[in-house]
Amino acid sequence: MQISLPEHVTEIIERLEDAGYEAYAVGGCVRDCCLGRTPKDWDITTSAKPMQIKSIFKKTFDTGIEHGTVTVVLGGLGYEVTTYRIDGIYKDSRHPESVSFTSNLTEDLKRRDFTINAMAYNKKAGLVDVFGGRGDLEKGIIRCVGNAQERFSEDALRMLRAVRFSAQLGFEIEKETAEAIRALSATLKNISAERIQTEIVKLITSDHPEKMADVYKLGLSRVFLPEFDVMMEAEQINPHHIYTVGMHTIKVMENVPPERELRLSALFHDVAKPKCTTLDENGINHFKGHPKEGAKMTKTILKRLKFDNHTIDRVCHFVLWHDANPELTPKSVRRLVSKIGRDYYPEMFALKRADVKGQNPVFADEKLRRIDEYEKLYNEIISAGECIDIKSLKVNGSDLIKEGFEEGAVIGSCLKELLHLVIEDPELNERETLLTIAREQFLERN
Ligand code: CTP
Repeated sequence: MQISLPEHVTEIIERLEDAGYEAYAVGGCVRDCCLGRTPKDWDITTSAKPMQIKSIFKKTFDTGIEHGTVTVVLGGLGYEVTTYRIDGIYKDSRHPESVSFTSNLTEDLKRRDFTINAMAYNKKAGLVDVFGGRGDLEKGIIRCVGNAQERFSEDALRMLRAVRFSAQLGFEIEKETAEAIRALSATLKNISAERIQTEIVKLITSDHPEKMADVYKLGLSRVFLPEFDVMMEAEQINPHHIYTVGMHTIKVMENVPPERELRLSALFHDVAKPKCTTLDENGINHFKGHPKEGAKMTKTILKRLKFDNHTIDRVCHFVLWHDANPELTPKSVRRLVSKIGRDYYPEMFALKRADVKGQNPVFADEKLRRIDEYEKLYNEIISAGECIDIKSLKVNGSDLIKEGFEEGAVIGSCLKELLHLVIEDPELNERETLLTIAREQFLERN
C-alpha cells in the first residue's frame, strides 16, 4: 500500500525523522487515502514531545499543548502534529483526566475510536495497521479498537461518530460495537450540543441520511432529539401515506440534494405531525396546522442544538411553507412566491418534490405534475423580470420622499401597498404609474 503524501506532510515527517524521532500521517487522512478519497486535512503523530516539535519548526502554534498537539505552519497551511499519547481515565465521557506521552506508536493507535481511524503511514514503514483497519474498510465495517464499551466510555460522542461514519461511507456497524452503543447510549447526555450538532449535520448531509434510523434504533436520538423518536413511532392512517412520520422523513431527506439547509428542513418538515394528528369519523388521520406548529418546534430544537440564527430562520421558514400550494395561475404563484420570498426558491421545489416522493406513489404523478407546473409558472415570472418583492418595484423610498412623503413608517406601508397592486397586475410596475398611485392613494388621502 503506497500513499502519496503531500509535500508539506513529507517535509514535516522527514524533519522529525532527521532529528531522531518517529513520525506518521495518522487517522482520517490515512483512512481516506485507503478509500481513494482526498483527505480534508492531514494529522501527524510523532514520538517527539511538544517542546521538541516546536524546536524543529520555525512557525508553530500551541493548539492543545497539554494534550500534546502543536500546529506546524508550512506554506501558510497548518498541520496538527501530536505526540504519541496514552489517554488517562475519562471523567465524564468527555475529557481524559490526564494524558501521558509514550514512545510507542501502537499505544497511540490503541486509544483511537475505530479500526479504520487507527492506521498510520509513512514512506519508510508503509501502512501500520495493527487493528485490521484495512480489512474493515474492505468489508465496510465500523468497529471499535479493542473493547467497544471502553472506547465509548472515554468519549460518548464516538457513538454518534460511529453512525456518522457508517452514513458517510455506507458501512455497517459491527455487532459488538452496536451493542455497546445500545448499552451506553444514555451517556450521550454528557456531550455538548455543539459537538452533537457537528456530527448530526455530517450524518444527514452524507450519501446515507437513512442511517438516521440507526440513530433512533441504537437509542441515541432519545437523548438529544426525542422528537425524532416520536416521529419514528407515529403512524399515518391516511390514503396519501404509506410510512410512519419518521420513515417518511427519511425518504424526504434521501430525495433532497445533500445540502445542509435542505436536509435539515427535510428532517423537520413534519416534526409537528404527531402532535397535530386527529382522527376523523372514517378512521382517517389529519394533520391540520402541522407546518406552523412544526416551525415553532423546529426553532426550539435548533436553538437547543445551538445552530446559528441564520440557519434557524431559514429552516423554520422552509418548514412553515413546505405544504403551501398556489392555484396554478400566474397571479396566484406571484402572490405565494412574494409571501414566501425569492430567497427560498428554487430549493422549495426540491423540498416539495421530495415530500411527494416519500408519500403514497399512487398519487405521486399527479402531485409532481402540479409542482412542475408551479415551477414553470415561477420560471416564467422570473424570466419576465416580473416584480415579486419591494426591491424590484420601479420606485423606492427616496423617490417617495422626493414626492413629498415624510420619512418613516408611511413609506414602508406605501411600498407594501404598491407591491400588492403590482402582484395583482404586473403592468402597473412603471415609475410614473406607481408615483401617481402613491400620490393619489397616500399623499392626498393622508
Ligand atoms: N479520534 C478518536 N476519538 C474521537 C475523535 C477522534 O479516536 N472522539 C481520533 C481518530 O483516530 C480520528 C482522529 O482522531 O481519525 C482525527 O479525528 P477527527 O479529525 O475528528 O476525525 P477524522 O477521522 O479525521 O474524520 P473527519 O475529518 O471526517 O471528522
